[in-house]
Amino acid sequence: MASLPEILSARFEAVTGVDPELRPATKPQFGHYQCNVALRLAADRGLKPREVAQSIVDTVDVADLCEPLEIAGPGFINIRIRTDVLAHAVAEQLRDPHAGIVPTQKPAVVVVDYSAPNVAKPMHVGNLRSTIIGDCLARVLRSTGDTVIAQNHIGDWGTQFGMLVEQILDEGIDASALTLDTSVELYKRAQAHFRSDEVFAEAARRRVVALQAGDEQTRAIWQCLIDVSKAGFNRAYARLGVLLTDADLAGESMYNPMLDAVAADLEAMGVATMDAGALCVFIPGDDAPLIVRKSDGGYGYAATDLAAIRHRVGTLHADRLIYVVGAPQSHHFAQVFATARLAGWLPEAVSAEHVGFGSVLGADGKMFKTRDGKAVTLDTLLDAAEEVAATEVAMAAVKYADLSNALHKDYVFDVDRMTATTGDTGPYLQYAHARVSQILRRAAADSLVVDDATAVIACLGEPAEQTLALTLTRFGEVVAEVASSLQPHKLCGYLFELATQLSSFYEQCPVLKSEDEIRASRLVLCRATQRVLATGLDLLGIHAPESM
Ligand code: ARG
Repeated sequence: MASLPEILSARFEAVTGVDPELRPATKPQFGHYQCNVALRLAADRGLKPREVAQSIVDTVDVADLCEPLEIAGPGFINIRIRTDVLAHAVAEQLRDPHAGIVPTQKPAVVVVDYSAPNVAKPMHVGNLRSTIIGDCLARVLRSTGDTVIAQNHIGDWGTQFGMLVEQILDEGIDASALTLDTSVELYKRAQAHFRSDEVFAEAARRRVVALQAGDEQTRAIWQCLIDVSKAGFNRAYARLGVLLTDADLAGESMYNPMLDAVAADLEAMGVATMDAGALCVFIPGDDAPLIVRKSDGGYGYAATDLAAIRHRVGTLHADRLIYVVGAPQSHHFAQVFATARLAGWLPEAVSAEHVGFGSVLGADGKMFKTRDGKAVTLDTLLDAAEEVAATEVAMAAVKYADLSNALHKDYVFDVDRMTATTGDTGPYLQYAHARVSQILRRAAADSLVVDDATAVIACLGEPAEQTLALTLTRFGEVVAEVASSLQPHKLCGYLFELATQLSSFYEQCPVLKSEDEIRASRLVLCRATQRVLATGLDLLGIHAPESM
């Protein structure tokens, strides 16, 4: 089911042959939408704008949806949707079990790679953003009918584990007694040791070889490190209320057995060539090669990501690959995707998208740091928000601040601003939902009918009611747009607009104090708005409380 503006656009386009660029009307007395295409067409064809407008109005077939069209000023066409049509659309949406979200025409298998923290390291702000954004995209794509496979590509493999295991053995620590915090401390000691002691460094390098060869003791200690970190990650996920579970874990180590084949196949196909001892891919138009295998024989981040693509396309049968990773890695992904295309592991029919995002800044506009100058971890951020607001509100504040900015932009972590219950914030949207829920509760307590969708047909006489109704019916279109463009801030912007219009509606249209069919129709509008707010917040991963 297309939304009203989409249907209108299509009808106009059938006549004009170009996108009619329907815009919301600037004033209620101009109707609901405006179409200025006559001015452009007239200029192109050397005709009079009002005459072009008149011929569009005479030809376009919208009488079943609109009041008679009006031509204004130099040739604007003013469009007013018939209130019965609007009312019908709201009633339909209220009856729709998906609240107006339209199932996609072609359901796809979508792999979303997100969160991806590193073992024995604290979750950094990039992992936080990735977790929040990825969770939102997974929810949106599921809502439109795609099959989403979350892949948590944790950093659980690499040369650093040689150093960590060696340090544990050197200190005689019981690895099973480590915690995330003590393993982070251990990491620092191991690093310092590695830098200052060549004998230790050599032992750490041998330990990497032992790990790769599957040496039992080495593997057991490595596994302890993973388990400790996993427990820490899961605590963070529970705190954030995101959907990731252990079933979504597909860490770097999983691909280790596939790396030799990745290298050998690339070389056999001639996609990769040896250069100064390293196996490299030279991508046309790119100055820097992608290094598949280093000259010491070790595989890095790139080889793992190539193996992951083979797995995701070949075994998981993905139609679409999404990577939610900080913007600084965009070159890495561009190279990995290009290589996979050259190798035929990423067929044209499968899309690969890097959803990059910016940094979180402190009030001073620099990278966010704690008061003692340390890099900020997930917990310090969440703690800061919880200092000023209850848990649900704090999470809404952090998530909404993260999702409501255009992804590539850096944003300032300002706890007071993002926890405010006014303005474009998560708590404001929660409050809007709680307030409308309260009205509906009161109505139900007074035995007023709030769920009879047909009641809305009676009215919608006020501009504020019409504006709200129009915005409600756009919900499906907005969700579809986020599913394709992968830009959560568009959903945030829509929900904020809806909440703002809800509040003008209260000001101009008393609900409980009005009577009979007017009250009944306003209650239906309240119910429909409550559902869209709740559904929309859920897609953002934000809890919608009944009261606040
Ligand atoms: N572990 C990496 C980091 O913390 C992110 C991994 C992203 N995913 C991927 N397939 N490379 O920066």
